[in-house]
Amino acid sequence: MIDSLWEHGGGRRANVRNGISLVHMDIRDEAIGRIFADFKPEIVNHHAAQHSVAISARDPVYDAQVNVVGLLNVLDHAARAGARKLIFASSGAIYGTPERFPITEATPQHPSSPYGITKMVGEHYLRFYRENRGLDFTALRYGNVYGPRQDPNGEAGVIAIFIAKFLAREPVRIDWDGEQTRDYVFVQDVAAANLAALEAGSGEAYVIGTGKKTSVNDIYRALVQLTGFEAPVERAPQRPGDARDAQFDSDKARLQLGWTPETELLDGIRAAYDYFERLPPGY
Ligand SMILES: NC(=O)c1ccc[n+]([C@@H]2O[C@H](COP(=O)([O-])OP(=O)(O)OC[C@H]3O[C@@H](n4cnc5c(N)ncnc54)[C@H](O)[C@@H]3O)[C@@H](O)[C@H]2O)c1
Repeated sequence: MIDSLWEHGGGRRANVRNGISLVHMDIRDEAIGRIFADFKPEIVNHHAAQHSVAISARDPVYDAQVNVVGLLNVLDHAARAGARKLIFASSGAIYGTPERFPITEATPQHPSSPYGITKMVGEHYLRFYRENRGLDFTALRYGNVYGPRQDPNGEAGVIAIFIAKFLAREPVRIDWDGEQTRDYVFVQDVAAANLAALEAGSGEAYVIGTGKKTSVNDIYRALVQLTGFEAPVERAPQRPGDARDAQFDSDKARLQLGWTPETELLDGIRAAYDYFERLPPGY
């Protein structure tokens, strides 16, 4: 795998499993060409990204350098090395705040952040490379992914952040009225969608979510139920640009990839909590 272990990202050397070699390199670096030429991958799984909506709003140029130019560097070298397919971690952020829920693949795309814009643009480049360079793709538009090893700075950070606060017996901050909802999908289910895309979903994009709306208050209540600790709540205003709701209809993924999310929210939160609880202090 190639990863720059970006300081604001969730990539950590400790998360790389035994037997997997890590090349510490930036996807924008021309030198990735050597790795592709040597390794000659059949399939490229592209998850490296500037993944923060907030950073993308502060620094849209950097966001595009990684998420567009970096992606192009990967696509180009993958095609040159004769790869068959690229699986792309896209995002529900390409939709912005749609007029109707649930979101499907046909929902009009109106991204409200530079991050959402670069993911949307990325999908168009996938199509270009499929049509012109013979490199197939499957794009997976994730809802809010959560689970063990989660980076608390990511899009679904609230679950990891709350778990850390509950473990430290500290107050949690709830923005707005806490009734804003997201579609939280467990990381193992997302991994299963990636496995399904190895053989299916040629040239297609799929919405990957549970179809369930979960509010910030629901997550708070789940953690109270799990831990028996009523963490004090600090109230804060709505964050600028924060969407009210998100909910995905993954019927297309079910029909074409044979994918269904299997993890209930409480089980997923428990798995994440157990993982964070076992980490050494100060990790
Ligand atoms: N977590 C979510 O809820 C979510 C939702 C939708 C889409 N996604 C997408 O899924 C993918 C994985 O996200 P994640 O949440 O696991 O984040 P993550 O930070 O754990 O993973 C992203 C990885 O990209 C690496 N990276 C960043 N910039 C790089 C660069 N220039 N060169 C090489 N490596 C670089 C980071 O070091 C990190 O390991 C991303 O493409 C993200 O946009 C995530």
